[in-house]
Amino acid sequence: MKNFETGCLYLLILLNLFTRGFAGVSHIVRRYSVPEDHFLFLCCDSDPDNPNMEWRNGAGQVIASKKGAAVSYLNQNKYHISDGYLQIKDLERADAGEYYCNGHLEAEVEVLTGQTFYISEGRTLLIPCESDKKQVWSFRKERSPRRVNIFTVFRNGTIIRMRDDPQGRFVPYHKALEIVRLELEDSGKYMCNSNVVARLTVIKGEADGGCKDLI
Ligand SMILES: *[C@@H]1O[C@H](CO)[C@@H](O)[C@H](O)[C@H]1NC(C)=O
Repeated sequence: MKNFETGCLYLLILLNLFTRGFAGVSHIVRRYSVPEDHFLFLCCDSDPDNPNMEWRNGAGQVIASKKGAAVSYLNQNKYHISDGYLQIKDLERADAGEYYCNGHLEAEVEVLTGQTFYISEGRTLLIPCESDKKQVWSFRKERSPRRVNIFTVFRNGTIIRMRDDPQGRFVPYHKALEIVRLELEDSGKYMCNSNVVARLTVIKGEADGGCKDLI
């Protein structure tokens, strides 16, 4: 009998680990780096089928909620919910931090200033371009004379890709270029319609021993 109980316990633990593992795979906490004054859309990935949403910041304050048709905000000028997304407008330093949807951590947001960025690998970067015309995005690697076109976004929404992107890391985002899961080789200059809009240096993640020099 004892063995049977222990067996059941092990089975439960295994099952728990199994489902947790799955949740971990399907729900990724997004780590965004976004320049100030731009906006960001967050999706409630951990609870996608729930039509009701309650968004909280890292301090635990409810910043936006949607229950049925009723929508309310902590600050109407700052937040907006539509089509299942929370929009954070006019990003400023104070908006940096964690964002929770229905109790689950969805995103961690870093707010950048200027156009020279030092960002850890693995994060997701948004590079805005205010041009209302078509946007031709290009990239020049550090110490490389060659400019490589990434894609063109036409005003009618048509996107023409000019560069191989098998993992889909370069994504057109409302008036911005989104680079998902930054890699060290993404370091360089980014141009929108030939204007430099970002100088990026991707730095090695902390997992690789960022505290090595501390004794
Ligand atoms: C969008 O605009 C581009 C460039 O003007 C054109 O080549 C393309 O056919 C257009 N696409 C649609 C769906 O209208």
